[in-house]
Amino acid sequence: MRTLKNILVTGGAGFIGSNFIHYLFEKDSNFNYRIINIDALNYAGNLMNLNDVEEKWGGKRYFFVKGDICDAVLVHDLFNKYDIDTVVHFAAESHVDRSILGPGDFIKTNVMGTYTLLDAARNYWKISDSSMETGVLFHHISTDEVYGSLGETGYFTETTPYDPRSPYSATKAASDHLVMAYNHTYRLPVTISNCSNNYGPYQFPEKLIPLMILNILEGKPLPVYGDGKNIRDWIYVEDHCRAIVDILIRGERGCKYNIGGENEWENINLLYLLIDITAKKAGIDPVAVKNTITYVCDRPGHDRRYAIDSSQIKKELGWKPLVDFQTGLEKTVEWYLCNLDWINSIRNGEYRKWIAKNYTERETVI
Ligand code: NAD
Ligand code: TYD
Repeated sequence: MRTLKNILVTGGAGFIGSNFIHYLFEKDSNFNYRIINIDALNYAGNLMNLNDVEEKWGGKRYFFVKGDICDAVLVHDLFNKYDIDTVVHFAAESHVDRSILGPGDFIKTNVMGTYTLLDAARNYWKISDSSMETGVLFHHISTDEVYGSLGETGYFTETTPYDPRSPYSATKAASDHLVMAYNHTYRLPVTISNCSNNYGPYQFPEKLIPLMILNILEGKPLPVYGDGKNIRDWIYVEDHCRAIVDILIRGERGCKYNIGGENEWENINLLYLLIDITAKKAGIDPVAVKNTITYVCDRPGHDRRYAIDSSQIKKELGWKPLVDFQTGLEKTVEWYLCNLDWINSIRNGEYRKWIAKNYTERETVI
C-alpha cells in the first residue's frame, strides 16, 4: 500500500483528468493529499471542468498551472516546488481523426512530453537500484488502441504485441515503450494502464458519444463512419478513475494493467440506444432522429474491433467496472442536457478569450 502526498496530474483539465480530480476530491475516502494540475489548455482542456474544485480547494490542496509538459524547465520546477512523489500522466493529444489530419502535435506532446516528464521524475527522484522500494511512482495513462485491431473474436491482454495503426495510437505506443524503458534502464518506478473507450461528463464533443448527443439535440445529421459495424468496448469514466487509484495505491511497479468495460457495442447499435435515451429525456421523436443517421466515408485505417481482457486487474487489485451502460449513458445525457452553457462557452469562443486574459504560461509556478 502506497501513501500518496503530492500528485502531479498532467492534462487534468481534459475529459478523464478532470473526472479523476473530481473523483479524488469527492469520492476517495482516503484522500488527504495535494494535487498539482499542469495543463496547456489546448482546445480540449477546460478550466470550467474544475471550477468547484478550484473554489473549494484552490491554493490549499489543489494547484493549477497552465503550462506545456514539453517545457523541461517548468516541469522540473514543479517537481521541486511541490515535492512531487506521484505522477499521473493524462496529458495527450487524444483524437484519432485529428491525428490523421496532422500528426505533428501528437508526436510532440505524446512522445516528447512523456519523455520530458520521465526525465524530470528520474532526475528529481534520484533513482537508484533501491528506489523501486521507495514511495514514488510514475503512472502513465494509455489506451487499448496501442494493440491494434481485433477480428471477430479474441481480447487484448497485457502481453498482446503492440500493433498501433493510427498516428494517435503510434504515439501512445511510443510513450508506453519509453515509460517501460525508463523502468528497465533506470529503475524508475512506473505503472501503465491501457484503457478502452471512456464516456461520461466533460468529454469534448468531437468524440462519438458527446458528438452524437449534441447532434441529436440540435437536429443535425448523425455521421456514422463506414458500415457502422466497428466495435468499441465502452467504460464509464468513473470506473476508469477508480481503477487508476487502485493502481496508484496497490499496483505492482513495472506492470501494465488493462482496463475495460466488458461492454462491446457496434457503433450503429450504440447510436440506436443513445437516440432512444436522449430523445426520451429531451422529449424528441426518436423515429425522426433515426432518420438523420447518415453513413459517411470511413476513417482511413479505421480499426475494426477493440476488446479488453481485464482479468489481471480484477484478480490482482479486486477492481471491476460497476456502472452498466444504460445507467452510464443516462447520466451522461443528463449531464449534457444540464450543462448546455458549457457547450456554448466552448463554441462561442468566450471561454478562450477568458483563458487568454486570465492565464499566462507558467501561471503561479515560480
Ligand atoms: P482530452 O483530449 O480530453 O484531454 C487531454 C488534456 O491534455 C487536455 O486538457 C489538454 O489541454 C491537455 N494537453 C494536451 N497537450 C498538452 C501539453 N503539451 N501539455 C500539457 N497539457 C496538454 O483527452 P482524454 O480523453 O481526457 O484522455 C486523457 C488520456 O487518457 C490520454 O492520454 C488518452 O490517450 C488516454 N485515454 C483516453 C481514452 C478515451 O476514451 N478518451 C481511452 C483510453 C486512454
Ligand atoms: P471516437 O470517439 O473517435 O474514439 P476512437 O476512435 O478512439 O475509438 O470513435 C469511436 C467510434 O465511433 C470509432 O469506431 C469511430 C466512430 N465514429 C463515427 O462513426 N462517427 C463519428 O462522428 C465519430 C467521431 C466516430
